[in-house]
This record gives sequence, structure tokens and C-alpha cells, in this order.
Amino acid sequence: MVKVLGIESSCDETGIAIYDTEQGLIADTLYSQIELHRQYGGVVPELASRDHLRRIIPLIDECLAQAKCLLNDLDALAYTAGPGLNGALLIGASIANSIGFANKLPIIPIHHLEGHLLSPLLADDKPNPPFIALLASGGHSQLIAVKAIGEYQLLGDTLDDAAGEAFDKTAKMLGLPYPGGRYIAELAALGHENYKLPRPMLHSGDLTMSFSGLKTAVLTLINNLTEQNITIEGQVLQDIARSIEESITDVLVKKSVMALKQTQIRTLVVSGGVSANLRLREKLDLELAKIQAKAFYPPLRLCTDNGAMIALAGAIRFKQQKFTYDFSVHPRWDLTTLASN
Ligand code: KG4
Ligand code: ZN
Repeated sequence: MVKVLGIESSCDETGIAIYDTEQGLIADTLYSQIELHRQYGGVVPELASRDHLRRIIPLIDECLAQAKCLLNDLDALAYTAGPGLNGALLIGASIANSIGFANKLPIIPIHHLEGHLLSPLLADDKPNPPFIALLASGGHSQLIAVKAIGEYQLLGDTLDDAAGEAFDKTAKMLGLPYPGGRYIAELAALGHENYKLPRPMLHSGDLTMSFSGLKTAVLTLINNLTEQNITIEGQVLQDIARSIEESITDVLVKKSVMALKQTQIRTLVVSGGVSANLRLREKLDLELAKIQAKAFYPPLRLCTDNGAMIALAGAIRFKQQKFTYDFSVHPRWDLTTLASN
């Protein structure tokens, strides 16, 4: 049995959790800085680091209390070492290393995307490798072949904006709060796809994605409607939101199906903030059933950044490591360079 405390601080969420290889997730605390950054329309890195520093120790204390355990009861500490904001990553790295050093606990640096990628293992219905992973977050839209945990081969990526970024930027144009994915989804549920928006690279024949053209299309649509004296609210707003959601999810679904067909793998693992999108889940389930494939998702509350996925990845990667606490972080870090244990 191994008990690992995970620390996530790569962007605007401070997440702490304890994962036990026998009991599963036994404690999970999270502080989201969304309100702090909302007035700026995006994450302000310096504010993010300062807030992580303010929250991290109380959250660790709360998490240990929830799990009814002491630092001595832990077998290791895992922290997000990248990719992410340099200053924000350094808060998690320095706290993990200080606690590890003081308590003679091994430290496990975790790749943030590996955390997301493994997060469906926190659900009741767990996938087994090999699988294709669709990572769709605010910063990434990638299709990855996972032969075994730790063996990642990049199959497709976005040329420009990530899927979450496309949700957030178009939401901003519509005057919705940041981050806009959730608000687009809420409005879309009440709308119809009355506006046909582009699906860039849909027929490119490969697994490359592109979402930046959607911004221009939505801007043109808003301008056209405004010229016709149509106010962008109520049903019109809901229909635009639905059209955006259909465009983004169509690309993600089509490319995922193509990746499954190309590799003849029949398991898809979907993760990252956009995996919380229920329309995406509905469309994937429908299309995958047609090719006898199945999709696995993280629990809804663990789709966006959290400590649980880092604690889990830490427990999977756990081995008695030497007590070398010379930590470094990797603001840019290629997932495919990770070696398995
Ligand atoms: O994985 P995540 O928490 O952070 C990154 O590592 O980027 O993902 C955040 C992204 C944001 O772009 C947000 O708008 C999007 O996930 N998101 C959603 C939904 N919930 C969060 N996008 C579409 N539908 C949702 N329900
Ligand atoms: Zn993330």
C-alpha cells in the first residue's frame, strides 16, 4: 500500500489530494483563483504565484485532516513540475521539496498532462492501456497513443489555439465571464445550431487540428447580426453558443474516431477541462459505439486542474527515490519525452 500527497499549482488552481493505492482518493482540497483573475480576462502569472503561496499550506493541513493522517503516514509527495507558469510551478515544487526534506519523504515530479491523462483512472469505470488519449484543455488539444503508462506517442496536435482556448476566446467575444467553456455549454444546452460555423482541418486527412479560424468566424457573425440590428441575447446568444459548441466538438470527435481507426485501438480516454463538456461526451459515446469502441472520462469535478490527478500519477510512478531535493520545474515540457518506471 502506498499513500501519496499530490500538489498541483501549475496555473490558477491550488489542488492538494491524498491517493492511497488500496483505498483510492482519501482526501481532496482545491482552491480556484478564477475570481481573482476574472477582471483581467485571463490568468495574471504574478498574481497566480502569490495566491498559490497564500493557499498552499492551509490546503495541505486541511487535506491531511480530511484523510486523518500525519505527514509521517505518507510514503511520498508528488508535485506538478511542468508544463505551466514558472512562478506558480515553483511554489508547488518548493513546498513539496521542503516538506520532503524535513520529513525524509521521496519527491516525485509529475508532468501536468500525464496527470490529466491518467485522471479517468479516478472514475469507477477505469480504462486499461493501450488506449488513445484525447487531451483537451485550455492550453492543449492533443491525441496521444498510450501503449503503456509512461509510453506516450503524439499522434495529433492543434496548429494554433487549443479547444478550451477556442471556447474561452469566443465566450469573451460574447461578453461571457472567463473561463467561458462552462458558460458556452450552459447556453448551448438551450440553443440550436442555427449558424454554421467552420470546422477547420476537419477533412485534412490527418490528426492535425486548428481552432483559431473560429474566432474570426464568430466575430464576423456578431458583426453581421449587429448590422442587422439583432441584439445578441436570449435565443440568439443560445444559438450562437450551440453553434460554437457543435463546431469544436465535431472536430474533437472526428479526429478521435480517426485516431482510433488508424491505430485499431478501441479505447479512448478523454481528459482536460473540455472533457467536462457533456455534449462532447454525448457525441463521442454515439460515434464510438458505431465502431465498437468505448470512451472513458474523469469524474466531472476532476476534469479541470486538481491535486487528485497528481497524487494518482505520483502513486503510479512511485518508487523509493534517493533523497535528492535539488528540484527544478519545466514550464515547457514535452509529454512524449517521459520514460515509464
Ligand atoms: O484542464 P484545465 O482546467 O486547465 C488547463 O490545463 O488548461 O482546462 C480549462 C479549460 C478552459 O478553457 C475551460 O473553458 C474549459 O477547460 N472547460 C470547458 C468546460 N469546462 C471547462 N469547456 C467546454 N465545456 C465545459 N463544460
Ligand atoms: Zn490542466
